[in-house]
Amino acid sequence: MLDAFIYDFGYPWPLSYGHLLVAIVFGLLGVAGWRYRWRSVITAVAAAVALWGLTGSYIVHHIVRLNRPVDLPTERFLSTGSGRVLDLGAGTGRSALMVLRSRRGATVTALDIYSGHFGIEENTPDHLMANAKVAGVADRIDVKVADMRHIPLGDATYDAVVSVAAIDHLRADDVKTALGEAARVLKPQGELLLMNINVDGWIRTAFPWMHGHGYFGRPQDAPRWRSMIANAGFDIVEEGTRPATLYFLGTKRARIFN
Ligand SMILES: C[S@@+](CC[C@H](N)C(=O)[O-])C[C@H]1O[C@@H](n2cnc3c(N)ncnc32)[C@H](O)[C@@H]1O
Repeated sequence: MLDAFIYDFGYPWPLSYGHLLVAIVFGLLGVAGWRYRWRSVITAVAAAVALWGLTGSYIVHHIVRLNRPVDLPTERFLSTGSGRVLDLGAGTGRSALMVLRSRRGATVTALDIYSGHFGIEENTPDHLMANAKVAGVADRIDVKVADMRHIPLGDATYDAVVSVAAIDHLRADDVKTALGEAARVLKPQGELLLMNINVDGWIRTAFPWMHGHGYFGRPQDAPRWRSMIANAGFDIVEEGTRPATLYFLGTKRARIFN
């Protein structure tokens, strides 16, 4: 619970606390309506909007975990507990901390372009390192400022690649390129854990106006992701959903045919 307040991942306050503000304002209106006997329809609407605000706030903080390190969706990922991991689109560290907190023998290279706007304020390496210090894992992380479409790292040098809510910002052709780069830097049998925001009931409830976080700006298209991952040279060993999340776990094929 408290880790919602100890980290600062830079997501803007309307996204973090907008629902709570709506709950408070409409909750007060509802109470005033009830106290001063306004028309019951006004009181009922105010109460319903307040309830939606409370639900949305719960979803943002406990389901989407906007202000917390992300939860690992599968224990099969890096099950040895150690290895070199590359985080593509690491931002301010929610995904890198997911790996470092759950896999105590792992190190992470946090790669991000750190330019343009992707929903994070002050998206910088310093911001990420501040969160790593709070988590006590700063000695196991290094930062690489780079584009995931041209990763300036050697072939077959990483045991795993993760990407959370990042690769789906790219256009379809660029997704292909980035997945190809992920395959290149992975050792044979290296793991790919891809996690994208899934426009499921939780997301639709909290953000009814959100049309998707997927490439082409549409809701996630699981079959399409599946074939792109396979075409990049991975065998998908697990696929699933967690609330607000669609994930794929793949391993790099020994030889890539395509
Ligand atoms: C929504 S944030 C997600 C950050 C983090 N993974 C998380 O879950 O909070 C998307 C990140 O992808 C990064 N990004 C977008 N395009 C990129 C590219 N071509 N190469 C590297 N990083 C990129 C952005 O800078 C941003 O930090």
